[in-house]
Amino acid sequence: MTSASAPGKVILFGEHAVVYGRPALAIPVTQVAARVEVFDTNRPGIWIEAPDVQLSAELSSLAADQPVAATIRKVLAYAKATNHPSLKIKINSTIPIAAGLGSGAAISVALIRALAGYLHHTPSDDEVSRMTFEIEMLYHGTPSGIDNTVITFAQPIYFMKGLPVELFHAGGPFTIVIGDSGIPAPTKESVGDVRRLWSGDPSRYETLFDKIGAIARSARAAIESAHWLELGDLMNQNHSYLQELTVSSPLLDQLVQTARDSGAWGAKLSGGGRGGNMIALVPAEKIASVSEALSSAGARQVLTTTIEP
Ligand code: PMV
Repeated sequence: MTSASAPGKVILFGEHAVVYGRPALAIPVTQVAARVEVFDTNRPGIWIEAPDVQLSAELSSLAADQPVAATIRKVLAYAKATNHPSLKIKINSTIPIAAGLGSGAAISVALIRALAGYLHHTPSDDEVSRMTFEIEMLYHGTPSGIDNTVITFAQPIYFMKGLPVELFHAGGPFTIVIGDSGIPAPTKESVGDVRRLWSGDPSRYETLFDKIGAIARSARAAIESAHWLELGDLMNQNHSYLQELTVSSPLLDQLVQTARDSGAWGAKLSGGGRGGNMIALVPAEKIASVSEALSSAGARQVLTTTIEP
C-alpha cells in the first residue's frame, strides 16, 4: 500500500490580480486534508472509491475530463505504466468542496504522489505541481497556478505566474480565521467576469491590479517582520479593491465587517469570491469571539489556522 496527504489552502492576498501577472500570497491550511491510499486488489482494473464526491467506479468507465480519472491517466502516462495494474484507490478528504479551500488540487496532489509511489516513481515537487496545474485547467479555465503550487509545497508562498515559487517565513506566529459563506461559487465564473471588465477598460483594471500587487508585496514584508496591525490594514484595503472588481457579495461583506467589529485586525474575501470564503487576521485572545460572531452572522463553517515562524 502507498499513501499520501495534501493540505487545503487559502489565498491571503492578490487573488484575481495574480491571473494578470501580479504577486499573490497563499498559505496551506493543514487542519483539513485530502488523503489517498493505493492498494493491490484481485479484481482486474483500477477501482476508485471517493465517498466524499460520491464516486465509486472503475477507471475505464470515467470520462476523459473527470478530474480524478484524468489525474490517474496522467500518472500512468508519467510512470509509463502500459500494463495497467489491478489496484484500488481510496480517496478521502476533510476539505470542504467548492469553498475556495483547494479541495480539487489537494486530491490531485495526494493522488499523484500516492499512485506514482505505488508505481515506484517519486516525482519532484515541480512535477507534482505541474501535473496538478494541468488537471486544474480542465475545470478552472485559466488558473494562475497558485493553488497547485501552495498545496504541493505545503508552505506559505509568494507566487507570480510563470516564475519559480518563493517560499517565505513569518516573523512570528499569526492566526487566520476562515469563514465559509456556504455559497458555492465557481471560480471560473468570477475569473471570466473580471476578464470581461478588464477587456472593456484595460487601463482602469491594470491600475487596480497594480494596486493589489503592491499590497501583496507590502503584506509579505509585514508578515516577515510580524507587523500585524499593518497586515490587517492591508487585508482591508485588498478587500475594497476586490469589491471594486465586483467579486464580493453581500454575505461576504457582512462576514468581513463582522470579523472587524468583533476584534480582527483586518479581514477580506479569499479566492474567487462571490461566495466561498472570507479570512480574518485575529489576535490570539479574540479567536473564540471572532469565530462565534462569524457563525452567528451566517458562516456555515469556521476554521482556524495558525502559521508558525
Ligand atoms: O477560488 P480559489 O481559491 O481557487 O482561488 C482562485 C484565485 C484566482 O486568483 C481568482 C484565480 C487564480 O487562478 O489564481
